[in-house]
Amino acid sequence: MTAVARFYVTTPIFYVNDAPHIGHAYTALCADAFARWHRLVGDDTFFLTGTDEHGLKVKRAAEAVGRTPIEHADITSARFREAWAQLDLSYDDFIRTTEDRHTKAVQTFLQRVYDNGYIYKDVYDGLYYVSEADVAPGELESGRVLQMREENYFFKLSAFEQRLLDHYEAMPDSVIPASRRNEAIGIIRQGLRDISITRTSIDWGVPVPWDDDHVFYVWYDALINYATAVGYGEDEARFEDWWPACTHLIGKDILRFHLVYWPAMLLAAGISDIPSFGVHGWLLIGGEKMSKSKPNQIAPADLVADFGVDGFRYCVLRDNPFGPDSDFSYEGILSRYNSDLANNLGNLLSRVATVVGSKCGGVGPAPDPGSPLAPVADEAFSAAREAWAALAPSQALEATWRLIREANAHLEANEPWKREPGPEVDTVLGDALEVLRIVSVLAFPAMPGVCRQVWSRIGLDASPEDQLLPAAAKWGGYPGGLSVTKAAPLFPRRKA
Ligand code: MSP
Repeated sequence: MTAVARFYVTTPIFYVNDAPHIGHAYTALCADAFARWHRLVGDDTFFLTGTDEHGLKVKRAAEAVGRTPIEHADITSARFREAWAQLDLSYDDFIRTTEDRHTKAVQTFLQRVYDNGYIYKDVYDGLYYVSEADVAPGELESGRVLQMREENYFFKLSAFEQRLLDHYEAMPDSVIPASRRNEAIGIIRQGLRDISITRTSIDWGVPVPWDDDHVFYVWYDALINYATAVGYGEDEARFEDWWPACTHLIGKDILRFHLVYWPAMLLAAGISDIPSFGVHGWLLIGGEKMSKSKPNQIAPADLVADFGVDGFRYCVLRDNPFGPDSDFSYEGILSRYNSDLANNLGNLLSRVATVVGSKCGGVGPAPDPGSPLAPVADEAFSAAREAWAALAPSQALEATWRLIREANAHLEANEPWKREPGPEVDTVLGDALEVLRIVSVLAFPAMPGVCRQVWSRIGLDASPEDQLLPAAAKWGGYPGGLSVTKAAPLFPRRKA
């Protein structure tokens, strides 16, 4: 018996101090699309996201508005759940680092690291980064970085240099894109120093189980969320089922924590399976990264209002390849929306529904088994499968849209709207309906709501998400004899 294939995908847990913007949404949307694809191919899938709620920054922000830290975190964490609901994200679990289950898992995990001899006490004399990973030391005056001298517990990161190098050597495909693996190797080769992982001067964190005076520094509590959510310390069988299937999606800003510190922590806790990573660049607005201090933040809701949730999802995934930085602009979304959605997919659906109405009495005919579109559909599926597996949503959608464009070209070449009803017209329309059926499955990870609608407008029962690939992409699945509905355009053209 073959084991069930599993796919466990995570986003970073987001700092509650920032309101969700499209930079956060990008990672979460990619994770959602990958999770949906894996469900379609029959993998047992678990998609985790959540919020990072400890640390001085949250404590200070709460004080500034007269709330306790947990009151503040309750309110600000909810903003992420609301934003994710607006984006139709199908996460299986939303973890908050202030939950009991997480406190327990962090304590169990780090107690094991301590018992294994990889944590020791020493004096920390240096900078404390209030929360960001990427603050420059020159920012001491800003209040984001504090000078500190206190007794801390240290993690023996230096003990793991060789094992980390061996791991990245042995698993060259475990990081996408490969350049980020090289970056991690470069960091490790420069030499790893032990890191301070606790604080005494702060109390908004997870208490160190063997020493009441300390809490864990926010990052070492945060990373463990990925283990908490699949039962670490509580349900070992569950943890062992999911852990080897884990893929972390992260932005390039937090590479060092994830590709260097976290694998070392896992090894130190006796966990030898190191996750895979997908590291993406930044969405840039006018050449700059979005951030709280700049007025360039865009809330996902603003774009959803203009393009619909699926229009927004499609354009973001299609136009921002996973990996490099990419420019994000309203004009870019607008032009992608009009060309791929209003003109291509929207047009195909409305033409087919109209002509089936006028030439076939509204009843969709079956496709031709020998259609010239059959091999095009095969190729689209193979290319999309490869691209989704390689964390390349943009290429997967490009492959799917080649099929849509070919189907439109096939209609134009045959002009069924100009012909008398009969078998020839039926064949051309049956082929176009079959393309719409296959596209509803292949594009589902990007546009779940719209694909469900296309599916039902062409008369099919159930939903694309109940289909199983590769069978569902095989040419000939549209049975014919179904009633095809003509309705309002799915993607009304938008003007600037
Ligand atoms: N809380 C830490 C992560 C802990 S994970 C154990 C953190 N949070 S964050 O709120 O700052 O979110 C960081 C993530 O948001 C980035 O790694 C990236 O995935 C996403 N992005 C934030 N701004 C972004 C862009 N402008 N562009 C793309 N993604 C960005 O770091």
